[in-house]
Amino acid sequence: MDSEKIKKRHEQLTAQLSGGLVVVSSYDQVQLSNDMVAPFLQEANFLWLTGITLPGWKVIIDGIRQHVVLVRPSRSEAEVIFDGKTDEEALLETTGANEIIDETDFETRLRQLSRQHTIAYTPYRPHPHHFVMNPAPAELHSLLCRIFPKVVDCSDQLARLRAIKSPEEIAAIRRAVKLTIMAFTAVRAQLEEYRYEYEVEADMTRAFRRANAAHAYQPIIAGGSHAVTLHYVENSGRIMKNQALLIDVGARVDGYAADITRTYCLKPTKRQQQVHAAVENAHRRIIALLRPDLLIADYLRQVDEIMKDALGEVGLLKNRDDTETYRKYFPHAISHGLGIDVHDSLGAPRYFQPGMVLTVEPGIYIEEEHIGVRIEDDILITADGHENLSRALSTSL
Ligand code: GLY
Ligand code: MN
Ligand code: MN
Repeated sequence: MDSEKIKKRHEQLTAQLSGGLVVVSSYDQVQLSNDMVAPFLQEANFLWLTGITLPGWKVIIDGIRQHVVLVRPSRSEAEVIFDGKTDEEALLETTGANEIIDETDFETRLRQLSRQHTIAYTPYRPHPHHFVMNPAPAELHSLLCRIFPKVVDCSDQLARLRAIKSPEEIAAIRRAVKLTIMAFTAVRAQLEEYRYEYEVEADMTRAFRRANAAHAYQPIIAGGSHAVTLHYVENSGRIMKNQALLIDVGARVDGYAADITRTYCLKPTKRQQQVHAAVENAHRRIIALLRPDLLIADYLRQVDEIMKDALGEVGLLKNRDDTETYRKYFPHAISHGLGIDVHDSLGAPRYFQPGMVLTVEPGIYIEEEHIGVRIEDDILITADGHENLSRALSTSL
């Protein structure tokens, strides 16, 4: 990314915040075990605003003065020896920032800025998760609250800007999709060879690492009833030729994710064929809906009708008003935005707009029959409709 593009993003954001002061933190490194650090992935807003993939940094964007300050984390000599030096000249050049200050001067700088700005904007919206949140955004938020009279969450403004992808971002997603399709195609071609789910995972990982890429999220390789657990990531089960195998895998390339699912079966039963055909048909019909200016509420209404048709076709839904049964067999969202984050917020817009990228991922999960089928593609909304970025990968069983 070059500094001109970063500058434009800063201008877009501060224009929405009446020229305000924006302060954003990268993520901190977190413990994996004892003195080992977990693999690091940058916070998406910080990455979008700076291109910096390092932990512990912060950025101050003063929209009035068009002044950008990077804040370096204080590191001991030992940390530098273990983790390497940072080329700060290069950071200034690629980000277009005006200066770099040390973390020890961060609070003083914020206090100075609080004389000119009563509001500090930062993306921070705590929400309950079944895991511990990265502490850095919350710590920054508390610090800002001690210094500024008012601290305002700018997650929505950032999400809406990030939702409309630039041509360069779309190109990166295309590369991620292409690599993911390559990995799927290779696995599909030798499906008979696999005895365990982890063998499929290993080949996917190999394909990604050979291309200097990585998984964008924990891969899901789920045979038979494992597919009913939506985020099954153990990938340790035996693969049976007469059971469906759900593979939900995506590469991250140049910071952007793909997110693709296919469900295969070597010796499908009539029932597996029937369920797969119903999901495939729904998937095709739902993608056909996508175009700019479609109200998202309308999209979701039509998706419900299509998914109810699908469940009706396989005999699981007798009464279309039976919401409980409907949600039992199709318990997750049909779509989510895709970008730096695998689940990239679209910023709760009313309409689809050109430049948005989202998944379409219908599924039917029948615990009592040990069948889970999902088909997921990555779709770009274009000026006059949509483009299925992952269409080259066959959806067949
Ligand atoms: N891979 C997670 C999802 O499909 O949303
Ligand atoms: Mn998805
Ligand atoms: Mn997925």
